[in-house]
Amino acid sequence: MTNHTPRVFSGVKPSGGLQLGNYLGAIKRFVDMQGQDFEAIFCVVDLHAITVWQDPKELKAATREVTAGYLAAGIDPAKSVLFNQSQVPAHAELAWLFNCVARVGWMNRMTQFKDKAGKNAEKVSLGLYAYPALMAADILLYHATHVPVGEDQKQHVELTRDIAAKFNHDYGAEGFFPLPEPIIDGPATRVMNLRDGSKKMSKSGESDMERINMTDDADTIAKKFKKARTDPEPLPDTLEGLKGRPEARNLVDIYAGLSETSPEAVITEFAGAGWGKFKPALADLAVEKLGPISEEMARLMNDTVEIDRVLAQGAEKAEAIAQPILDQTYDIMGFLRSRKG
Ligand code: TYM
Repeated sequence: MTNHTPRVFSGVKPSGGLQLGNYLGAIKRFVDMQGQDFEAIFCVVDLHAITVWQDPKELKAATREVTAGYLAAGIDPAKSVLFNQSQVPAHAELAWLFNCVARVGWMNRMTQFKDKAGKNAEKVSLGLYAYPALMAADILLYHATHVPVGEDQKQHVELTRDIAAKFNHDYGAEGFFPLPEPIIDGPATRVMNLRDGSKKMSKSGESDMERINMTDDADTIAKKFKKARTDPEPLPDTLEGLKGRPEARNLVDIYAGLSETSPEAVITEFAGAGWGKFKPALADLAVEKLGPISEEMARLMNDTVEIDRVLAQGAEKAEAIAQPILDQTYDIMGFLRSRKG
């Protein structure tokens, strides 16, 4: 039971649209991993979205938009399993079992909950607090061994390891759940807000100028990079020279992510350049790389029948992997299962 075959799982929430951080920190990296020597499962995690109220009229559209983003970026449903979480009920079932494994003290340490709840902790949903146990269920339901995510999700993957280890130990099932590894690599695992280099780029930020949306047109992308906050200094000739310059570092990292090089290579290319040179180069690169993706997303969004078909088929494939693992989990815990075939 201890030798788990390599399997990748990751997910993106359909709350609001996709932003550049989701692309560079997650989806683009999923595409790069696809077709290698392991099975890959990618999910639109709609059950996670409702930890904060979502307009029922918009949830389906947001689910289709994230799916369109995956497909347009290059996720191929013939090579990877692609589905939305709520179509595989086993996620919610395993999450409940894990609510009874995870400890309140562990949840209290989750920095994302503290950030999101802020001073309002008494008023947020219980789901927002329990969210990391559902994320652990997403991953462990497939016995996934590798979880590519942006930097902000590292603590949740570490919690998943703790839940797996405690389950295995408490139920005398050593090695049943693997301890999955977070995969956080590349130059853009933490894309920052364009107006404030101390904050992460996110879809929920106050101003649209803070982020690049995957659906922005060329003019909007150019305008946002032109108005991005920077300092007056030109680019240095070594990466060291970007210390203490978070906004400058962020734009260099974004350039490296989009051009598939390293921040070092970007600095070598642009050493001594002022923003009047670098920002237009970055805008051009972003339009070149993101333009075809947003066009394809728009085309796919007009074909909801096809998107829904892909998700339905993906859910069948996902369930075929998940259900036996859930059944084994129930058995290990001692549930009476007389309906089972
Ligand atoms: P979510 O929907 O907030 O983000 C999806 C992915 O995008 C990454 N990301 C970023 N990366 C770099 N810079 C940014 N500014 C940035 N913003 C977002 C996130 O790190 C993430 O990889 N809880 C997860 C979704 C989830 C999940 C899972 C992920 C649910 N179950 C199981 C992996 C495995 C979330 O809210 O991601």
